[in-house]
Amino acid sequence: MEGKHILLGITGGIAAYRACDLSRDFIKQGATMRAVMTKNACRFITPLTLEVLTGNVVHTDMFDEETPGEVLHIALAKWTDIVLIAPATANIIGKIACGIADDLLTTIVMALSQKTPVAFAPAMNVEMWNNPIVQKNIAYLKNLDKYHFIEPAEGLLACGDVGKGKIADNEVIVEAVRKLVT
Ligand SMILES: Cc1cc2nc3c(=O)[nH]c(=O)nc-3n(C[C@H](O)[C@H](O)[C@H](O)COP(=O)(O)O)c2cc1C
Repeated sequence: MEGKHILLGITGGIAAYRACDLSRDFIKQGATMRAVMTKNACRFITPLTLEVLTGNVVHTDMFDEETPGEVLHIALAKWTDIVLIAPATANIIGKIACGIADDLLTTIVMALSQKTPVAFAPAMNVEMWNNPIVQKNIAYLKNLDKYHFIEPAEGLLACGDVGKGKIADNEVIVEAVRKLVT
């Protein structure tokens, strides 16, 4: 993954803490990481943590200005070789499936070139995962060429329920992304 640009989107679930280790794992493989967090992700971990780990500014607001005269969501969409959303909430999957672009992360996804892949590593409660609306959104996105899903695992979930919905292991996520960018 040497020289590849990875934009890590972090959304609001307990598994947001996993984005910290994950970003380091990609950097160890030679990738350059930038992170974008939803407002709800910031309730679980802080942008500062990701800034230190990635060595880059972490944006949370569409109207942040990094370079005067540059439109942030377009610049980030052009910069990246892939968008990895980890963890991906039911909410972000639904918004992207509906073409909603109401925050920085969803707007970047809408602004990507059709050649730039998007990978989701979903993490959610088992009932959310089994919800037919969530499954319909996933099926719809999978049917389009550029959206890829890294299946969650089964086990004891953070909420105490048991079932499918645990974010995939880091090695599984890194390998899936490697296949998409190399
Ligand atoms: C403690 C807590 C844990 C949550 N964990 C998850 C989760 O793992 N997966 C999920 O899809 N939503 C989870 N949610 C709900 C999301 O935070 C909520 O749907 C939110 O709107 C997601 O916003 P975002 O997708 O913009 O980050 C959780 C909420 C709370 C309060």
